[in-house]
Amino acid sequence: MPIPLIIDTDPGVDDAVALLLALASPEVEVRAVTTVFGNVPLPMTTANAARVLALAGRGDVPLAAGADRPLVHPQPERAEGWHGADGLGGLAAGLPEPTADPDPRGAVGLMADVLRAAPEPVTIVPIGPLTNIALLLALHPGLTGRIDRIVAMGGSLGAGNTTGAAEFNVFSDPEAAHRVFTQAEVPVTLVPLDLTMRCLTDSRWLAELAAGGPRCAQLAAVIGHYHNAFRTRYGLDAVALHDALAVLEAVVPGTLRTTGFPLRVACDLGPARGVTVADRRRAAPGPQVNVALDADIPAVLGEVLKRLVTPPCECVTVF
Ligand code: RIB
Ligand code: CA
Repeated sequence: MPIPLIIDTDPGVDDAVALLLALASPEVEVRAVTTVFGNVPLPMTTANAARVLALAGRGDVPLAAGADRPLVHPQPERAEGWHGADGLGGLAAGLPEPTADPDPRGAVGLMADVLRAAPEPVTIVPIGPLTNIALLLALHPGLTGRIDRIVAMGGSLGAGNTTGAAEFNVFSDPEAAHRVFTQAEVPVTLVPLDLTMRCLTDSRWLAELAAGGPRCAQLAAVIGHYHNAFRTRYGLDAVALHDALAVLEAVVPGTLRTTGFPLRVACDLGPARGVTVADRRRAAPGPQVNVALDADIPAVLGEVLKRLVTPPCECVTVF
């Protein structure tokens, strides 16, 4: 029985990779895609998600838009510098047109209906700001038993990418992240920058992706802007596929090696806003979040590539 997934996303170049990875993985069934503001504004993340679904030939997957802004304080910073003005490397218009309108139930309504209808608990994979997830937990506390776990990309126990110590998804809505990380009803696995910035692909990996057929060539072209941004900003021939790691962990549970910590998020308006704080004390109180801090990095990067270039029917879990 495939693992049922809901992916909450802000496409976003690495989100596009993550969505296609999930759709190419026979171990999971994507029951819904929901969108949130983030890398680019909500209307664009929603249109981009629809185009990526169309690129995968999966216009049948229900898609609904969620939060247009954070829960409490405005966070006007988007990430066009990394993802392009359209959120997909400037190539969104070249992807297939969306084949369906977004679901009128909206992200939280769609997620709640998918949870109610699922015969078995669902894995939710947030790969953008956690606003929709915090709203789901607040509006439907009775449905937490229908969620198997949350596997989120975000946070950093070390250096940030948006401020000195804050990662973009958590910085975009710290209050939402704090709510999700500190609740005890649903197990949370968090895939932070500490690991994703060690799992860097390069131009050789991108060339192999591009040779994987027309769909892969389009995806590789979309990644181009993001790759150039890494070269310009960091002087690296590299691409961090942050969100794909979270999806791979959801697809093959146990791929990433985790350590449990109680987490809190700084929600003040000072320089530490959006910082993820791990309580490393022995027997620290509070619900633990399983923080992914290690993996077989070459194996992970190889597995992502193989799944993207191999038609779904041929994928085998090799871990
Ligand atoms: O910090 C990386 C995260 O922020 C990724 O999810 C990327 O898509 C952006 O949303
Ligand atoms: Ca994202």
